[in-house]
Amino acid sequence: MAATVSVNGRITSGADAVVSVFDHGFLYGEGVYETLRTYRGQPFLFERHIRRLRNSAGMMLLNLPFSDDDLDAEIRRTMSAATLGGTEAYIRVLVTRGVGELSYDPQVTPHPSVIVIVKPHIDPPQDLYSRGVRAVIVDVVRNHPNSVSPMIKSNNLLNCALAAQEAMRRGGFEGIMRNYRGDLTECTTSNLFIVKGGVALTPPLESGLLPGITREFLFDIGPAVGIAVREHVLRDADLFGADEAFLTGTTREVLPIVTVDDRPIGDGTPGPVTGALLAEFRRRAHGDIPAR
Ligand code: PDD
Repeated sequence: MAATVSVNGRITSGADAVVSVFDHGFLYGEGVYETLRTYRGQPFLFERHIRRLRNSAGMMLLNLPFSDDDLDAEIRRTMSAATLGGTEAYIRVLVTRGVGELSYDPQVTPHPSVIVIVKPHIDPPQDLYSRGVRAVIVDVVRNHPNSVSPMIKSNNLLNCALAAQEAMRRGGFEGIMRNYRGDLTECTTSNLFIVKGGVALTPPLESGLLPGITREFLFDIGPAVGIAVREHVLRDADLFGADEAFLTGTTREVLPIVTVDDRPIGDGTPGPVTGALLAEFRRRAHGDIPAR
């Protein structure tokens, strides 16, 4: 495992980076995380990620034992110790309930564990952007918002892992999940958009999905290139009747979806609206002015 890891401030590498089996992140999946990446060596949209981390932690009554500046410093310290060889960094921040007795009572775990994993970021192959990817709609239903809320970016990833297994079995690059009402929500590690009549549409948070940072950023940058970006409840028929579809995520940016369940979306090739949003996203991400 070619990664450099800070475990509660102690920097180690690869398989030497360990947490206790009595950590409630391991025992109960009680923890939250963020995945960031750098552009030009700087963590991208850091403030938005830390805001979401705080929201996720708040929803499971977990106190984050650091300030934004502390976390920024720890990420940079871990990055400095990593051998990135000039490549951009993949950064994963995890905060778990911490080590304690076998009990759900948060009082037995007064000290959350804080982990920062840094490794080289590897871009998806370029031909995925030029040719687009195949997605499938999976039978695994996205968590009901009143169970493990999809709004929490939780280390408890079984819902998404099971959906991803189904997608892989069926040859899909991504699996699209419906909610308990049958409305579309998001993919297993990315958000979903369709394009209809030049407008980019994505399911509302009320459909039960992660408030993706890339998704949120598209609402800001779409209008700059004359593309309206809106939330809209989406069903299967909207997806199959769309002109274009794409997914968004920190490590994938804006990636065209060209078939769903082997049926072409639009003309079955990456569309112009997707292309314009990807180009604007990259212009901002690689730009001189740090995006916040
Ligand atoms: N995954 N939806 C789910 C379920 C996700 O896991 C992710 C991100 C997204 C996209 O969110 P963002 O734009 O903030 O990356 C949507 C990250 C990359 C991960 O799990 O590592």
